Amino acid sequence: MTPSRVVAVDGPAAAGKGTLARRLAAELGLPYLDTGLLYRAVGRRVLDRGADPRDADIAAAEARALTAADLDRTDLRGPEADMAASAVAVLPGVRAALLDWQRDFGRRHGAVMDGRDIGTVIFPDAPAKLFVTASPEARARRRWLELQGRGVERPLAEVEAEMRARDAQDASRSTAPMKPAADAVVLDTTDLDAEHAFRVALDLVRRRLGG
Ligand code: DC
Repeated sequence: MTPSRVVAVDGPAAAGKGTLARRLAAELGLPYLDTGLLYRAVGRRVLDRGADPRDADIAAAEARALTAADLDRTDLRGPEADMAASAVAVLPGVRAALLDWQRDFGRRHGAVMDGRDIGTVIFPDAPAKLFVTASPEARARRRWLELQGRGVERPLAEVEAEMRARDAQDASRSTAPMKPAADAVVLDTTDLDAEHAFRVALDLVRRRLGG
């Protein structure tokens, strides 16, 4: 059963869903979960073993062994972690191992959860669903600026190519592909700043949660 206060925020990388979901959670007094971190941590555990993130058996075993401490690792961002996360996320055994973890989190006190399949698979009955997106060019530029802010100099074209490859892998996999739920509201942030996106989203979520 889906609890009455679950907000699903899905969408591709760098569309602004993390910032938005975090602010919604703070405003609504709900716990926040970045579900991408689960896949990132599984990818890291596989890399730690010197294994290939596409190895279904090893990746599923690492997903089952995941601990809360893995989510606090400081090496869960960056191109290597991005690609490892996207690779393990294709594997049904990994997704199955992480399913209950995510449902348990949401059922405890309600939650705002961001990811790719929250509104379609994890909580298909969630009362409020957003699919946050933006053009690939805008998203690549945001990611590139974010990297620059962290002192990482990469060519914009390279960042965009990696992002498009990851989008394609996330959207084309057969298990839980990234796509808007039929009842999700699509929020295109290409020409919206974070404040405007937040106001639009909060208004919608408040109406859906009934308060
Ligand atoms: O949101 P993110 O960029 O941190 O996600 C990392 C990868 O994990 C992304 O390529 C797709 C995958 N992912 C997923 O398949 N399902 C989710 N709910 C969250 C992330």
